[in-house]
Amino acid sequence: MVQLKDVYPLYLNNKAVQPNADLAVTDKFTGEIAFRTALATPDVIDEAIAGAVRAAEPMARLASYEKRDVLAHCVGRFIERFDELAYALCVEAGKPIADAEGEVTRLIDTFRIASEEATRNYGEVQPLDISARAKGYMGMWKRVPIGPCSFISPFNFPLNLAAHKIAPAIAMGCPFVMKPASLTPLGAIIMGEVLAECDVLPEGAFSILPASRDGADLFTTDERLKLLSFTGSPGVGWELKAKAGKKKVVLELGGNAAVIVDADADLDHALARIVFGGYYQSGQSCIHVQRVIIHESIYETFRNMLAEKVKTLVSGDPKARDTFIGPMISAKEAQRLKGWIDAAVAGGATVLAGGGCEGAMLEATLLEGCTRDMAVHTEEAFGPVVILSKFSDWDAALEEVNDSKFGLQAGIFTRDIHKVLEAWDHLEVGGVVVIDVSSYRVDNMPYGGVKDSGLGREGVRFAMEDMSEIRNLVIRRA
Ligand code: SIN
Repeated sequence: MVQLKDVYPLYLNNKAVQPNADLAVTDKFTGEIAFRTALATPDVIDEAIAGAVRAAEPMARLASYEKRDVLAHCVGRFIERFDELAYALCVEAGKPIADAEGEVTRLIDTFRIASEEATRNYGEVQPLDISARAKGYMGMWKRVPIGPCSFISPFNFPLNLAAHKIAPAIAMGCPFVMKPASLTPLGAIIMGEVLAECDVLPEGAFSILPASRDGADLFTTDERLKLLSFTGSPGVGWELKAKAGKKKVVLELGGNAAVIVDADADLDHALARIVFGGYYQSGQSCIHVQRVIIHESIYETFRNMLAEKVKTLVSGDPKARDTFIGPMISAKEAQRLKGWIDAAVAGGATVLAGGGCEGAMLEATLLEGCTRDMAVHTEEAFGPVVILSKFSDWDAALEEVNDSKFGLQAGIFTRDIHKVLEAWDHLEVGGVVVIDVSSYRVDNMPYGGVKDSGLGREGVRFAMEDMSEIRNLVIRRA
């Protein structure tokens, strides 16, 4: 039986410290305090940034095999601590245990990918003699670490979305300071505990600092930090970018992702995947399926299949193996989304399943007849709500996907390669997933959005590019 401790430290310049136990973290299902962690004050954050600055040079000098070995050590320890990590997610995020185990598996993948990428930091030799004036010149470039990085990670994937910043930083040789979400800091703290076992990391290589939003300005504004990588809500992300000064900014924000189900789709497969993508971890994912656009010839059949299935989803205690719908992160968030559902219904939408809410438990909800002026259509729901609409023409369906201020990923269920290529050309998103949902992600693929969904890409190799600068060398041959 896994047990969490009562109190956890923060990690300052690679070391566990316990200046206080001021952050109380609740079990999101019971609402009771599950454990406490230290909370970093601005002084502590300042000390961590100074440590990261001192560590920049020795981190950049680490050999590829040393960085690989640190990351491989983490993989081994996460495998050993698998059940504890999954349980921590289940408690602090209210994530159903099967989803929590899935996230730990992905955490391990992300660190494993990074351990491989740590030895593949390649550059290029480039002939420069493209005209007479450059005869005898050649060039070559390599990637060098950008320097101290600032990371802010969200509550919905407390392990893997923190890992998508931490693991590439180590693979690239960048020291970092991280602020995990205050609602779910434990995943990142356990990663700190594992990293602290790696003596090869120079002091200051990492700090993991739960902090209140008010006291955390330095993560964004401090000029010693060369990159800010933020995952979270679009409102907060764009606000931080405006305050980030000269540093590079990577934003992995939200969306109202759409999938298209064409007339030739395998409906049983589409059903299983849309129910997963729409409702896993109560829809609290940036690529959760929010809009389902269905060909008119199959609309009624598929709508009925979806409504019937959604009504059978088991909700309750996330620690129970058969629970599919657990709590949302807070009763406030559940009430916010319940308000959007009620407003949609008042505006003419029909509830096909769900619609009820008690505390943080919002029922898996399926709606039709929503219009573009409704928040459930236009804003990021970030909860277990899916809306349906009908199309007759493929180009119009693509337009409907694009009719959004967001653009993270989209899913298309069609067997027609021409339609696939049309979608790949025209959808304004970071990624198109064919015969699966927008929610599909493997941790080595480029991942990120356009429009209000963000800037830059994660997916280890792509994050390493953001965490580095190209340094060129020009040689004039004698
Ligand atoms: C996200 O919610 O931003 C990430 C989704 C994922 O990694 O699956």
